[in-house]
Amino acid sequence: MDRIVVTGNGPLNGQIPIAGAKNACLTLMPATLLSDEPLTLTNAPRLSDIRTMSDLLASLGAEVTALNDGRVLAMSSHGLNNLTADYDIVRKMRASILVLGPLLARMGRAVVSLPGGCAIGARPVDLHLKALEAMGATLDLRDGYVHAEAPGGLKGAMFEFPFVSVGATENALMAATLARGTTVLKNAAREPEIVDLAQCLQKMGAKITGEGTSEITIEGVDRLHGATHPVVPDRIELGTYMLAPAIAGGSVTLMGGRLDLVAAFAEKLRATGVEVTETSEGLQVSRPNGRVDAVDVTTAPFPGFPTDLQAQMMALMCTARGTSVLEEKIFENRFMHAPELMRMGARIDVQGGTATVTGVETLKGAPVMATDLRASVSLILAGLAAEGDTVVSRVYHLDRGYERVEEKLSAVGALIRREKDDG
Ligand code: EPZ
Repeated sequence: MDRIVVTGNGPLNGQIPIAGAKNACLTLMPATLLSDEPLTLTNAPRLSDIRTMSDLLASLGAEVTALNDGRVLAMSSHGLNNLTADYDIVRKMRASILVLGPLLARMGRAVVSLPGGCAIGARPVDLHLKALEAMGATLDLRDGYVHAEAPGGLKGAMFEFPFVSVGATENALMAATLARGTTVLKNAAREPEIVDLAQCLQKMGAKITGEGTSEITIEGVDRLHGATHPVVPDRIELGTYMLAPAIAGGSVTLMGGRLDLVAAFAEKLRATGVEVTETSEGLQVSRPNGRVDAVDVTTAPFPGFPTDLQAQMMALMCTARGTSVLEEKIFENRFMHAPELMRMGARIDVQGGTATVTGVETLKGAPVMATDLRASVSLILAGLAAEGDTVVSRVYHLDRGYERVEEKLSAVGALIRREKDDG
């Protein structure tokens, strides 16, 4: 198993290219199940989660061909021959549940393993199921699988989510494109990944309005056709690398980055004293002076501060001047990075969903590990500002969601390398 070694090395300068969004690509790929014509995604990120989704689609009989070094995914669901998403794949990646809505909508039947809990929370999928039931699906949960049927097809419905769920909105949106009649999704998620999905579905012939607002209306059509769609830039990768010069000093341009994707996060970053400027190339982030100022952060659905940047923001707050309070409102167990950061000398007190971080002058490198993707990358960011070596193990978490992290950070002057861990 690989590990990553980061040696704190002062300011970073240069450019980092931002890849297509993992979480957008993971919902755009199952959209191929809605049509028997090809769907091609450009600007795809090269990540292990994307390979897992390819494997899942292939197990259903879809063809997925990675072209242009994995940047382009050419997909076709013409020859679907299996309607069961097996536990062996679903357990690796929860986003597998996103095949349920499309399979059911086009084929009238689907059997999908229920994803279990994960390191950051219980993460049930009840809202996905309720939205599909509202559209007339009959669901039977047995043997760890959801057996879903809609023999006469799904029917348009009004469904109000009791709280915002990105994945449930995506599943319902995809399913509704082929339902008979009109579906109105209320209290829908407004994340850029939802807008990207809606735009791709529109290119495929779907009739959708209101994407990006909390009420999405979908008029079902008989069939969807092929399309080509570029994946939106990854706002979480963008925010993560915006924090690199904020933590280590220097000035870095995030190529292809857009302020509208990270507005709430950028506002917080500016409040710490970091400069964020939108240019024709992307976002330029500079930390001109010494330590940043502490700010308080509360995570919320888009357009609020993303939970997927909370761990990385905490890494910055560890060396800020003053005390910051970070409140995690989306997942019940998303502070696993805190004890690891404390091993590097951070002062953090976690009480339930609230972490209070008192900034220290410097962190010290240490061997650390994390149990999820964003926690892992927060430790790398902390390592950029630490004295000595920070050795991050369990790198497979990183590879799920960050494309070549060590290459991107080396290119702006970080001392970071990947090692084979024989232990
Ligand atoms: C998506 O997960 C992302 N994953 C997550 O990114 C992200 O953290 C999350 O949205 C929130 O922004 C993908 O897009 C693949 P939710 P998702 O449904 O859709 C509860 C990363 O690091 N809930 O919006 O699973 C749930 O437990 C990952 O890239 C239910 O109770 O998130 C959570 O507390 C991690 N029942 C809250 O809602 C449901 O049926 C929001 O979850 C669905 C969700």
